[in-house]
Amino acid sequence: YRRLRVALLGAGAVGSQVAALLLRHEDELADRAGARLELAGIAVRDVDAQRDVDLPRELFTTDAESLIVGSDIVIELQGGIEPARTRILQAINSGADIVTANKALLATHGTEIFDAADQVGAQVYYEAAAAAAIPIIRPLRDSLAGDRVQRIIGIVNGTTNYILDRMDTEGAELADVLAEAQRLGYAEADPTADVEGYDAAQKAALLASLAFHTAVPLEAVHREGILGIDRAMMDAARHAGYVIKLLAVCERLSGASDVSASGEAISVRVYPALIARTHPMANVRGVNNAVFVQAEAAGDLMFYGAGAGGVQTASAVLGDVVSAARRHIAGGVGVGESTRANLPVLPIGRVVTSY
Ligand code: NDP
Ligand code: HSE
Repeated sequence: YRRLRVALLGAGAVGSQVAALLLRHEDELADRAGARLELAGIAVRDVDAQRDVDLPRELFTTDAESLIVGSDIVIELQGGIEPARTRILQAINSGADIVTANKALLATHGTEIFDAADQVGAQVYYEAAAAAAIPIIRPLRDSLAGDRVQRIIGIVNGTTNYILDRMDTEGAELADVLAEAQRLGYAEADPTADVEGYDAAQKAALLASLAFHTAVPLEAVHREGILGIDRAMMDAARHAGYVIKLLAVCERLSGASDVSASGEAISVRVYPALIARTHPMANVRGVNNAVFVQAEAAGDLMFYGAGAGGVQTASAVLGDVVSAARRHIAGGVGVGESTRANLPVLPIGRVVTSY
């Protein structure tokens, strides 16, 4: 097999599992990708930090910039805006394809990154950036590209679903469950992103951009978190036959008061909502996520699975790595060749944040 140089940036909850799986399944991945995926190194802040899994010490470096040089595929799992943005742009401009799970970065600097990739014919893969292990980016971008998505209703943050579920079923305190979610590797480095709904809003912006073929700016997403939810509210909801879930709702609005010339607008919002206990969304338990998609021709589709967690997220990351490798082997064409899907191509009009 041809050898492809893979650089990994970050070895936290997700990155350490990605490295372990790349090494453990090297031969099998080579058969699937048609190329040997050679892990050239892992860039971190502290090469001596304790890791979730044992990895060869000689792979670690603090010099991400040098590691990227000559790489065919760069996997960014550091999180945050900088230095992730600079390193991704460096990697794109040096000819690498990118795999990232960084929704915070893509929701704020996605256009800059996708434009840079388009200019040099590189590809940016980000299946793990929304709903972790659940395949939802490709279904929206590729499988449903011939349909018309009307609405997405999602539970897209694992940490808050884990917290709300434990508050509902065990009467647990929000702060205690959040600390546990951090220990389990579910929460963001700054968990404010989870509990205040920023993470869900970033994911909603990414999903809505793909579903409605328009660039949805993060500022246009209405956002409420779960910090105002207490046990008394949970109890009241339960007694009335409801459960409280943090929802992301993205929908096409027809005939709204402020719409484009095409007669349409979209609304994207994240907020805690009362869900009837008989509704399938009410049964999304623990750290799981679910994304319910309504499309004109396909009808109702439901995507369900782990919404956070190192090894679960690593599955989606490695799927992207295999796609990137196949594209390299095919000479830069093939799977995932649709970055443009994230740019405005339909005149959907102004983004409205509420009715
Ligand atoms: P962690 O905080 O656990 O790990 C981050 C890693 O990046 C660490 O290894 C850290 O190094 C390294 N790092 C951070 N900043 C720098 C820097 N400035 N220079 C060099 N290395 C740096 O994050 P996660 O693994 O949880 O998440 C990674 C990405 O995946 C994020 O974008 C997150 O939003 C996303 N994601 C996470 C999921 C999850 O369940 N955890 C699920 C889906 C997506 P060191 O170890 O030395 O500190
Ligand atoms: N902190 C995020 C969550 C990780 O809990 O959903 C997955 O994106």
